[in-house]
Amino acid sequence: MATVAIIGLGPVGLATGVALAAQGHRVFACDIDADRRAQIVRGRPPFYEKGIETALRKVLRLKRFSVVNTMEEAVGPSEIVFLCVGTPSKPNEGMDEGPLREAVKSLATAWRDSKRRTVVVKSTVVPGTTDNLVRPILETTNRTYRLAVNPEFLREGHALADALRPDRIVLGVDGAATARILKALYRSARCPVFVTDLRTAEAVKYATNAFLATKVAFANELANLCQAFGVSYDEVHRGMGLDPRINPRFLVPGVGFGGSCFPKDVQALVAAGRKHGVESRVLDAVLAQNEVQYLRSIALLEEELGDLRGKRIAVLGLAFKGETDDVRETRAVPIARTLLSKGAVVVGYDPLAGPSFSRLVPEVKVVRSAKEALAGAHGAILQAEWPAFSRLTAKDFLATMATPVVVDGRRILDPKKMRGVRFRRIG
Ligand code: UDX
Repeated sequence: MATVAIIGLGPVGLATGVALAAQGHRVFACDIDADRRAQIVRGRPPFYEKGIETALRKVLRLKRFSVVNTMEEAVGPSEIVFLCVGTPSKPNEGMDEGPLREAVKSLATAWRDSKRRTVVVKSTVVPGTTDNLVRPILETTNRTYRLAVNPEFLREGHALADALRPDRIVLGVDGAATARILKALYRSARCPVFVTDLRTAEAVKYATNAFLATKVAFANELANLCQAFGVSYDEVHRGMGLDPRINPRFLVPGVGFGGSCFPKDVQALVAAGRKHGVESRVLDAVLAQNEVQYLRSIALLEEELGDLRGKRIAVLGLAFKGETDDVRETRAVPIARTLLSKGAVVVGYDPLAGPSFSRLVPEVKVVRSAKEALAGAHGAILQAEWPAFSRLTAKDFLATMATPVVVDGRRILDPKKMRGVRFRRIG
């Protein structure tokens, strides 16, 4: 059993901390946001993550997970310190190092004893950050420390499950002893553990997200082409997926990608490359493709409905994907704003993200159910793949809508079961 500090209680920090506590480790967690600490200490995660509430309450009850108010209280008893603070993007500048710098400075100040600790960067940082930013601050403390980079591959909504059952663990380390410590920490994981140097581990994280974002952008472009050729994307996808070099996963076309990772990480990678004199033409194109992909869903509506002025349009799913309440970079925002600019009346529904979406686009009327959103609507766009939406039937649309025009922006409904509905998908 190890004693671990978690610095930063966003979805990544909380899921990592709760998973480690569930595996028997002792976790001291802190966040600079007092409201967030107060919620978590009462067993109420400030965001939705499947299963996290129950798991959090259990580890709080077992006293394996403690929320502490200061960095000193988190670091003091710990042998391993996980830095899980956010690395947001600055417009056109790439990664904002500010929050990480502040966290490491505060860690350095709180480190009062001579205990040797392992500091693990879990935040997504551009290659070189741990060496060039974290290390110099730790050096000022004159303490002995070990340094590691352990990127997270947690999908929002499934972060706890992914933290408990990872499919791989990447450890960037400064030496064999650090690798041994972290391997022992993760000893219950049944998956490959890849050990490398700090900078490579940082790069692996960016490479992974950039490649996945590229797959999605490629799928979107291919679907647009299929539509122009009059062939079914599903069939092309299936045929193409038979090539063992092409994994058929993560090639679902739709309204484009959003969330706290793909757009930000690809932008940060492009910006970091540019600083080193490397133009990332493919990744530039991925971002450009994603910027306009949502317009396809609106074009399909217009093909069916003509002028959208005065038409009531339901947007089902306001979060950036299903099973999360996160609206960061959600495509529902540009979709709603474009519909509004075309004179449509927009009604939105999401099982969780309604209130936060309302703050972004207050002109959209957010209602309490899919049925209410569809009532009297001339058209609907399925924007996020919530399981409840995939259970919608032709009858649901026909019974409620003024004109049953449905654009499935996430490929969750079976066109064969949509008899009577003017049903459109991208590709
Ligand atoms: C992602 C990575 O998957 C995760 O490993 C990383 O650590 C954080 O970023 P997340 O942002 O939670 O996780 O969402 P993910 O499920 O990967 O989807 C990202 C975006 O791509 C979503 O908007 C999703 O709707 C879209 N997407 C995904 C598609 O449009 N098509 C696909 O086939 C897959």
